[in-house]
Amino acid sequence: MKICCIGAGYVGGPTMAMIAHKCSGHTVTVVDINQSRIDAWNSDVLPIYEPGLDEIVKASRGKTLFFSTDIDTAIREADIIFMSVNTPTKTYGVGAGRAADLRYIEKCARKIAEVAENDKIVVEKSTLPVRTAESIKRILESNSKGRKFQILSNPEFLAEGTAVADLENPDRVLIGGDQTPDGLAAIQKLVDVYAQWVPTENILTTNVWSSELSKLTANAFLAQRISSINAISALCEATGANVDEVAHAIGTDSRIGPKFLKSSVGFGGSCFQKDILNLVYLCEHFGLPEVAAYWNGVIEMNDYQKHRFGRRIISTMFNTVSDKKIAVLGFAFKKDTNDTRESAAIYVCKDLIEEQANVSIYDPKVPEAQIRRDLGLAEDATAVTICDDAYEATKNAHAVLILTEWDEFKALDFKKIYDQMNLPAFLFDGRNLLDLDALRSIGFEATGIGRG
Ligand code: UDX
Ligand code: ADP
Repeated sequence: MKICCIGAGYVGGPTMAMIAHKCSGHTVTVVDINQSRIDAWNSDVLPIYEPGLDEIVKASRGKTLFFSTDIDTAIREADIIFMSVNTPTKTYGVGAGRAADLRYIEKCARKIAEVAENDKIVVEKSTLPVRTAESIKRILESNSKGRKFQILSNPEFLAEGTAVADLENPDRVLIGGDQTPDGLAAIQKLVDVYAQWVPTENILTTNVWSSELSKLTANAFLAQRISSINAISALCEATGANVDEVAHAIGTDSRIGPKFLKSSVGFGGSCFQKDILNLVYLCEHFGLPEVAAYWNGVIEMNDYQKHRFGRRIISTMFNTVSDKKIAVLGFAFKKDTNDTRESAAIYVCKDLIEEQANVSIYDPKVPEAQIRRDLGLAEDATAVTICDDAYEATKNAHAVLILTEWDEFKALDFKKIYDQMNLPAFLFDGRNLLDLDALRSIGFEATGIGRG
């Protein structure tokens, strides 16, 4: 079979690389309108950083895996077309700040309708509001010219930083399709692709809407756990309890479980906020304001947590950070990725820049230009310096912030860092990554999230 994927991003790239890696009988072509992104996929330095990704891309590239900007040919030749384009939150018009912006999806659907010469299975892979498949179907069917299109929903559950492992060994693969003979046949074709490496009992099939809604719900539940423990972290700080101990204690209850209970400066990433906003918008649209308000609370708590961290830094540092050097270690939204979308670091840095601090940032994988773009800074803005390592960033600093849980930060020589800082030297661990007692014994005034 020939498989095409439109969109060579964080989802499309790794997912197709894994399909090519596991299904040597199929040809997989990933296309994108962004020429430089495609060039990067074809080069030695891939456009996204994911542990283990280089190996599987390099093993299949040019054999069963291809990256191209020739979208028309890839669509024309494909039996199955994945749509993996971006679906950001709308920034304009009706639903601004909440609804998903579906213009890229719609453009893709129109492109498929224009170019396809025979029947196709079209798979929505991006995170989409419930009933998007319905819209895609209408666009395709009203331009069908005798061709038949089957629309499937196959949401992605991979997490960045562990994408390769998640794809290789998924908890489940979910495929939604029409419960008609043609729809069921299309579902089976996609099941057969995944069944090359995923046990069939882990491949779940549903109707289209259940599949779409499951993706939003899974992300809402995961984010809700983080907001719940973050809410408790504020109470821990007020009362002297330790949030890590509380999380461990409740996580040993098998009904609760230990995962996604790590208190932090706030969740980021391209999915959680966007998907919950989507869910909220959907509930409002269907006249369910109480349900909308319930889920919106998860986002409100996350916003509170991000700004609370900034406020705590300022109040601890004698109520002013003006002209003080603040070293920020970590800018990605989590470790092992170069992705910064919705990273808590963006919000914390902006709050500190607003307070006229001089911010020095070091992240092992995020390029300088990306950081400057995220902070809305001009090339020559001096409020922020981007550094090549943690020691440079912390030199003469008044405070160090840990904003991403990169493993390399655990191995830093904090005595060396302390010795080159202004005293009193503050350390704010926004990821509860470090041993605060050990830092205090060096001399740091160290605080974490929900840890006194
Ligand atoms: C998420 C979902 O996990 C994945 O299934 C879905 O397909 C896409 O969205 P991702 O955003 O890549 O994946 O990363 P994830 O590991 O879920 O982390 C999201 C954010 O939550 C990060 O900022 C992370 O640091 C934070 N987080 C996670 C916490 O603060 N505490 C935790 O216990 C777990
Ligand atoms: P995700 O995290 O969902 O993968 P990304 O933004 O990383 O999101 O990737 C989406 C990709 O889709 C981008 O590289 C973008 O250029 C591409 N894209 C958007 N619209 C189209 C389109 N109409 N045709 C082809 N590619 C597109």
